Amino acid sequence: MARKLFITGNWKMNLSAEQCTALASKLAGSVEPDWPVAVAVCPPCVYLSVVGAALDGSAIRLGAQNVYCESNGAFTGQISPPMLADIGCDYVIIGHSETRHTIEPHEDDALINRKVLAALAGGLKVILCIGETLDQRKQGQTESILEAQLTAGLANMHSSLAEKITIAYEPVWAIGTGQTATTDQAQQAHAFVRTCLAGQFGLAAANGIRIQYGGSVKPTNAADLLAQPDVDGALVGGASLKADDFLEIIKAGLQNASQTSGTAV
Ligand code: 13P
Repeated sequence: MARKLFITGNWKMNLSAEQCTALASKLAGSVEPDWPVAVAVCPPCVYLSVVGAALDGSAIRLGAQNVYCESNGAFTGQISPPMLADIGCDYVIIGHSETRHTIEPHEDDALINRKVLAALAGGLKVILCIGETLDQRKQGQTESILEAQLTAGLANMHSSLAEKITIAYEPVWAIGTGQTATTDQAQQAHAFVRTCLAGQFGLAAANGIRIQYGGSVKPTNAADLLAQPDVDGALVGGASLKADDFLEIIKAGLQNASQTSGTAV
């Protein structure tokens, strides 16, 4: 099944309201609605509404960087899936490497799974991040880590919801380091992820799930990564903060899009 490439900008904890508006407005005015590449941006949660306003009427979708696993109640400081949907979010990133490994307390697979199920129940689409650390790769554990994170992260999810899932393969050692996975490393990991997804949800569902690559994606390496058969897009950090760089990455996706039209966002 053909999969439409999906390029997402993860702005992480960067930019002011004014800078978010300027970046979103420039992207909104540059991405044509008929481009065969899906695009989303995930600003800091306090700026979701201003970015949503700047994107209004454009082809670019809005996403959040995290969410809590309950829909309302006494959970000070948390934001629920229905709240994100209410202010116009289509997507939420869950299980990002920084929430698994950097920000304390670290999120574990059980919490990530609760968040995935809650987000889907709240009407959001999920970008589930998975990836191995450098130590795990050196010890030959990459595949077992990816399989464990997928199995646990998507536990108890009905296969009919698979179309609402994007997987982001983000090797921890490639995030923010300038050290990108080679095209072979990315393709090998993505193909393995798809095999795992087929085991969990069946081949048809697995063939419809987009698998983004993330980790030091730049205008200079995007075209090669996106040309890999199982690389269905990119989750871009640093390079998504500059409109021109992010647009170049989207345009690299356009080069490959003739081979990969299909799935709607
Ligand atoms: P960088 O593109 O800055 O390496 O970040 C990748 C990432 O973590 C996207 O979620």
